Amino acid sequence: MPSSPKRVVLGVSGSIAAYKAADLASRLVKSGVEVFPILTADAARFVQPATFRALTHHPCPIDVFEEPYPGEIAHIWLARNCDLFAIVPASMNVIARLANGLAEDMLTAAAMACTAPILLAPGMNTGMWNNPATQANLAKLRDYGYFFIEPTSGRLACRTEGVGRMADVETIFAAIHEMLARQDSWRGIKVLVTAGPTREPLDPVRYLSNRSSGKMGYALAEAARLRGAEVTLVSGPTALAAPGGVEVVHVETAAQMRDAVLLRSNSADIVFAAAAVADYRPSEIAAQKIKKALGDSSLELTPNDDILALLGSRKLPGQRLVGFAAETEDLLASARRKLDDKQLDWIVANDVTAEGAGFDGDTNIVTLLGRGGEEIALPLLTKREVAERILETVQENVNRDAPPSDN
Ligand code: PMT
Repeated sequence: MPSSPKRVVLGVSGSIAAYKAADLASRLVKSGVEVFPILTADAARFVQPATFRALTHHPCPIDVFEEPYPGEIAHIWLARNCDLFAIVPASMNVIARLANGLAEDMLTAAAMACTAPILLAPGMNTGMWNNPATQANLAKLRDYGYFFIEPTSGRLACRTEGVGRMADVETIFAAIHEMLARQDSWRGIKVLVTAGPTREPLDPVRYLSNRSSGKMGYALAEAARLRGAEVTLVSGPTALAAPGGVEVVHVETAAQMRDAVLLRSNSADIVFAAAAVADYRPSEIAAQKIKKALGDSSLELTPNDDILALLGSRKLPGQRLVGFAAETEDLLASARRKLDDKQLDWIVANDVTAEGAGFDGDTNIVTLLGRGGEEIALPLLTKREVAERILETVQENVNRDAPPSDN
């Protein structure tokens, strides 16, 4: 049975590069993609909605109250019915509105309701691009999980040279197709991710915990979902929003995380254990707030189960286990020991004392160690990029191990 065509919402905002979006729409349609155009009011001063209607054979709304799809609330329908949302070009204004939750027209309302990946191709004057407000908004959007095709340097419509020129249509076209292809690469695969810290209560108001923000694990969950996997994220307490399309199980203690993971591990094809699970918990939880005592005091601790080691001891055939090692010394030797002891396929070693690596920040520096002796050192990357590289590595490994297909 032929698969249904991929659906892309093409949002066009007010920048001189808007005219190039018509070419992009035409190329996408010719390549078999179903394109649903949306213009902002400013984009419609550069290009006509009629152009996009003719090229895509779909309505081209502008105002959020338009009703081009009978019986449907248009911005919600568009948000739910696309595989990818591309904004080409993305103006300074649209970037600012997306970063600050201002859903004022069809484009921004649909984009903000969308859980499919959103790809932005910014295009603007160099000064506007370099403006600290734009850079802060871009950082926010990166943090929210938006994807970007960076603008290039060159001659701009304002007769200046500099960065801000929207990437070429061919580059954007290729990126859209690459993202669409990637969406199916993990379809049918069940992924279980642990993320964040655990909290081990001491009394009704205090707990033992660590600095994990959950960012690394959430990035992995998001990256696996964007490849089409069915993802469950078992998360300790974090301040992060649940990634769209991912089942999130919230836990607090290591024991709760263990139970939540063991309940789901038998149906998982791949487990990524990015959580910073507390190795110990207070032996007793005081029923009342512990009063301040004069002099020294000590705390008795009981070891928690090692969740990943439990998974390693009951690993199913074909299941892949990917652990993390947060180390402050002997990085690779300690990580390799954990790889062996916990019977893992891969371990991601991070020296959590290195600048730009480890807990809480948006970046990490890791080395991937494989069961087969592989050692892949990655440079400083955002946690999202690290997640992508980990998934690529595990995927290559799965493909290499797969039995040859009959056809
Ligand atoms: O959350 P972020 O702020 O983004 O930070 C990311 C991170 C530094 C937390 C992450 O990259 C990381 O290194 N996670 C693992 C932290 C850790 O607990 O490492 P470990 O070396 O103590 O544990 C080794 C592995 O065993 C880990 O996969 C861990 O999830 C698992 N483990 C550990 C103890 C335990 N009781 N049960 C476990 O399953």
